[in-house]
Amino acid sequence: MCIWTVTKGAAAWSCIRLSILSVLLVLLLYPLPSTCHPIAPGVATRSAARLSRAANTSSDTVVGRHVRSYNHLQGDVRKRKLYSYQKFFLRIDKNGKVNGTKNKDDLYSVLEIKSVDVGIVAIKGLSSNFYLAISKKGELYGARDFGVDCRLTERIEENRYNTYASAEWRNKKKPMFVGLSANGKPMRGKKTRRKNTATHFLPIVV
Ligand SMILES: *[C@@H]1O[C@H](CO)[C@@H](O)[C@H](O)[C@H]1NC(C)=O
Ligand SMILES: *[C@@H]1O[C@H](CO)[C@@H](O)[C@H](O)[C@H]1NC(C)=O
Repeated sequence: MCIWTVTKGAAAWSCIRLSILSVLLVLLLYPLPSTCHPIAPGVATRSAARLSRAANTSSDTVVGRHVRSYNHLQGDVRKRKLYSYQKFFLRIDKNGKVNGTKNKDDLYSVLEIKSVDVGIVAIKGLSSNFYLAISKKGELYGARDFGVDCRLTERIEENRYNTYASAEWRNKKKPMFVGLSANGKPMRGKKTRRKNTATHFLPIVV
């Protein structure tokens, strides 16, 4: 698995990177029933520990999204702003109202994105302490307490923007997304589509 080329140091590094990638692959494949090579739990734990040590020494930006999705397994917490494709910062104000702002200094747009499950995040307004939530009817709102409405499936779309869909509720079998209209108003989940840029957000490091 390790290719010993160039200098010793470079080779060792590519070796570490290869093992990170392979562990990631194993972690991704492991839950599938069709996995051909089941691994012992002890092996998985050791690999995960090794990976987390490796991940600790490298920054998100260097290693990229793969490690970030690994971090999801760790209950990783990220302080971010969500910047929409239509150039609004998503904000959750002190009354739990959700909308967009163009003001880059708006304190209510500072969010905490936390992994609660593989691929599922909770997004909380740091100043308001409300969780971003989508109700069964598709209403976008701030929830005082964490509940099923607050479980959001985070996905990277083809244009590299992220979408956030309710992990709980669907509308006629279609996902309902967090979306801000071209005026920065919250969108009804039933009106949202994955392909619509109103649902596309870039997480920006604060
Ligand atoms: C990663 O680093 C943090 C702080 O720098 C430390 O608290 C944590 O234990 C480290 N995790 C691992 C797996 O080394
Ligand atoms: C968002 O809500 C705030 C507070 O109600 C309001 O001042 C602001 O104008 C709203 N922004 C948009 C884009 O509607």
